[in-house]
Amino acid sequence: MRATITAVAGYLPDDVLSNADLEKMVDTNDEWIRTRTGIEERRILKDPTKATSDMGAEAVKTLCEKRGMDAAEIDLIIVATVTADMHFPSTANLIAHKVGAVNSWGYDLSAACSGFIFALTTGAKFVESGQYKKVVIVGADKMSSIIDYTDRTTCILFGDAAAAVLLEPSEEHGIIDHKLHVDGNGANFLRQKAGGSLFPPTHETVENKEHVIWQDGKPVFKAAVKGMADVSYDIMQKNNLKPDDVAWLVPHQANLRIIDATQRRMGLPKEKVMINIQKYGNTTAATIPLCLMDWETKLKKGDNIILAAFGGGFTWGAVYLQWAYDTH
Ligand code: UT7
Repeated sequence: MRATITAVAGYLPDDVLSNADLEKMVDTNDEWIRTRTGIEERRILKDPTKATSDMGAEAVKTLCEKRGMDAAEIDLIIVATVTADMHFPSTANLIAHKVGAVNSWGYDLSAACSGFIFALTTGAKFVESGQYKKVVIVGADKMSSIIDYTDRTTCILFGDAAAAVLLEPSEEHGIIDHKLHVDGNGANFLRQKAGGSLFPPTHETVENKEHVIWQDGKPVFKAAVKGMADVSYDIMQKNNLKPDDVAWLVPHQANLRIIDATQRRMGLPKEKVMINIQKYGNTTAATIPLCLMDWETKLKKGDNIILAAFGGGFTWGAVYLQWAYDTH
């Protein structure tokens, strides 16, 4: 028994933050952002009364509509996020309530930009065991809530979004293999320092801007290029996949140069790589399901697909799956 993706849906806030907008906010320019990252604009959830669970709930509602099912049929919701609405209850709890998933349980999973593939792998096990028939995996982040919009090194990178997939049992297609990694030394280069149990909020932590993302870009970039390219190559080797066998690479969208390095290492032509970083920036846990949503109509039953990510933690990995349906 395999777990296979049977539907994909996403939610993008309406407000656009373009490179031109950022030029008015910090000392940056469109040319630098495009050439160093590939990003042209990102979406921002401006409504102060809305949070990650609201975007996630919209994605799950659309997912249910697309699959023609009632939310009460969902067995389990796993939410990958680093921007939970609050420490507790979990975002999964809030989403289940908002969509009417009255028979579901759920939890949040924290693996930053690799969150979606970590959650997908975890959720698949509940389906493969035969225990559950409908597991929803959500990748959702309101990154604007942890960004310092006076820090040009981070504020140009991130956007807000949510996207979700439905996992159901299949004897034919589905998730075949995964290779996932963590390295806690990554905390030295990319972290949100305060707000947790180590540094609970104080006037000082707020004044020192320790509740936002801090990143030492260069070492993260180097680790990301190596980590994402190596693991994507490794999963191909492990499953005897040649470049011709792979229909699509679905990479985490942090930087176009990291994606290019991964594609080259895998020996794939550019046409087989899903890239939408120019439109949304880095939406952390949402990037991979957003790509699946944007490319859904091009995907064919039986397509071999590699999902790959690298993110804070450090966390990184790849998932190999076979697509289950044609969209007409
Ligand atoms: O998804 C989570 C994991 N995160 C990542 O994968 C991100 C990995 N890192 C990166 O993508 C890249 O390191 C960045 C895009 C963050 C930065 O690109 P870079 O090529 O590594 O640039 P850099 O940090 O070495 O900075 C080069 C120069 C510096 O100026 P000097 O020291 O050469 O005079 C920076 O101060 O660019 C300057 N700079 C900027 N200039 C204009 C940094 N940010 C900006 C900016 N606009 N926004």
